[in-house]
Amino acid sequence: MADTVITTEQEAELTGEERAALRRERDAKAVAAAKETRTPTVVVDDVHIVYKVHGASAGKGSATSALSRLISRKRSPAITEVHAVRGVSFTAYKGEAVGLIGSNGSGKSTLLSAIAGLLPTEKGGIYTNGQPSLLGVNAALMDDLTGERNVVLGCLAMGMSPEQVKARYQSIVDFSGINEKGEFINLPMRTYSSGMAARLRFSIAAAKTHDVLLIDEALSTGDQAFQRRSEARIRELRKEAGTVFLVSHNNNAIRDTCERTVWIETGKLIMDGPTEEVVGMYERGERP
Ligand SMILES: Nc1ncnc2c1ncn2[C@@H]1O[C@H](COP(=O)(O)OP(=O)(O)OP(=O)(O)O)[C@@H](O)[C@H]1O
Ligand SMILES: [Mg+2]
Repeated sequence: MADTVITTEQEAELTGEERAALRRERDAKAVAAAKETRTPTVVVDDVHIVYKVHGASAGKGSATSALSRLISRKRSPAITEVHAVRGVSFTAYKGEAVGLIGSNGSGKSTLLSAIAGLLPTEKGGIYTNGQPSLLGVNAALMDDLTGERNVVLGCLAMGMSPEQVKARYQSIVDFSGINEKGEFINLPMRTYSSGMAARLRFSIAAAKTHDVLLIDEALSTGDQAFQRRSEARIRELRKEAGTVFLVSHNNNAIRDTCERTVWIETGKLIMDGPTEEVVGMYERGERP
């Protein structure tokens, strides 16, 4: 924030408590400013998401249960519903980076997939201004194709022209650092470690400026150096106007990249506000 007049040296002299207070003030201002002046990019309105799991009763899949089903001539078990997101609402604005936190299975990835338009909502609506792109550790790259083919296909899929792909190709490979350990870019993706695959995925997605960029845990798989590089790139992407959502269990990555954080548990919104306030409470195990 331009109006927070404090130098780095001054900040270094502050105690942890004072620095947290300063961060709180800064985040609050940024959140308030975003609400007042900016255009909404993502509106999530009372969203419910229900997974329908076919044949998910106990014993499914084991040979004995299949045999007993055959003998008793019962049909395979019915559909089980998992109500993963339960009435979540919030609005994100242009230029904002929003952290999404919550324990395992709280519904973060589900919510991101729905914002990306990959999952239907059972109830409620999601409105996005611009094209959202989901960048997850599970995002689809083709295992049997080489890294090089995946870069080209990924860029084309994001809407780049073949000329733009050619122009960006080398910088994507360099950013990913895939070739630091040999000519891996010409080998099939299945020969990559999960961290290497995640790096390539992030590098492809980060080559383009996105209206709404959704990042699911993508940072935590890379090593230290790559994490720093990708955090810097996220900050750039924000400046280039889009909105960034970041799901991470690394609270410091959230602190460093997002001024606002949404906390969900068992599919419900617990808290939505300035990062330091929300993450602080989450870490202390408190509830608002
Ligand atoms: N494909 C699926 N089919 C059925 N249920 C699912 C599916 N994916 C997720 N779920 C369920 O939906 C709920 C939310 O899962 P989700 O993956 O969104 O959690 P998360 O917050 O991303 O967790 P984590 O921190 O572990 O990544 C969980 O109860 C999970 O079991
Ligand atoms: Mg997840």
